[in-house]
Amino acid sequence: MAATGNIPQHVAIIMDGNGRWAQERGLLRVQGHQQGVETIREIIQAARELKIRFLTLYAFSKENWARPRPEVDFLMKLLSQYLDSELQELEKGGVKFNVIGRIDQLPKEIQEKIKRNIKQSEHNRDLVLTLALNYSSRIEITDAARCLCESVKAGRLEVSEIDESHLAKALYTRDMPDPDLLIRTSGELRISNFLLWQISYSEIYVSEKYWPDFKREDFLKAIQEYQKRERRFGRTEAIQADHD
Ligand code: FPP
Repeated sequence: MAATGNIPQHVAIIMDGNGRWAQERGLLRVQGHQQGVETIREIIQAARELKIRFLTLYAFSKENWARPRPEVDFLMKLLSQYLDSELQELEKGGVKFNVIGRIDQLPKEIQEKIKRNIKQSEHNRDLVLTLALNYSSRIEITDAARCLCESVKAGRLEVSEIDESHLAKALYTRDMPDPDLLIRTSGELRISNFLLWQISYSEIYVSEKYWPDFKREDFLKAIQEYQKRERRFGRTEAIQADHD
């Protein structure tokens, strides 16, 4: 594998372009999502080989519910199948399964499978795979604000004590470092309500490829590009990624 040294600890990905990939081939949009799952498998494998510690994938946003009903149903079915089919594979590969988002609003059957996968993989240490499901960063931040207000109301926290670290600890991502690298596929230059707080100092890499066409070598290219960047975190001198 070509990329060595200064490997990002946490890579987050906005997987975009499944629909366009399918439409350009005269296929149904949902076939693009199906092919997108193959890419997920390939990228998890590459991340494991590179010894990346955290991989976070934007799989279903809160806004995605507004898609045509058949497409939403298909995505839920695909997710349900994925949660069954990958469990063993993830287990064997030392992958700890995790989710962020309003999971309580997903179909019950999916919630059960998520709980099962989290439980069965909790001892794994090589890679933490986080799927963002029914996720909205603004809702995450709103939930965090509400949580801090509850603490103040209960007398556990003074308003004047609240700082960045309190808010960070109230986010769904409290147990992981901020992403070092954010990748978006399909050439779009948008954040789409994804990890708004956490990507404050992330390096951003945009690939022109649609997600189903995004292969291991494209992922490596993104990592190599990251390795060339100077991360200054608002200072004048570059500092190593493990600063935070
Ligand atoms: C965007 O493509 C992609 C998504 C809606 C989320 C990604 C979903 C998958 C890769 C498949 C399901 C995931 C799991 C974990 C089973 P788009 O439809 O917005 O593409 P477009 O912009 O070309 O329309």
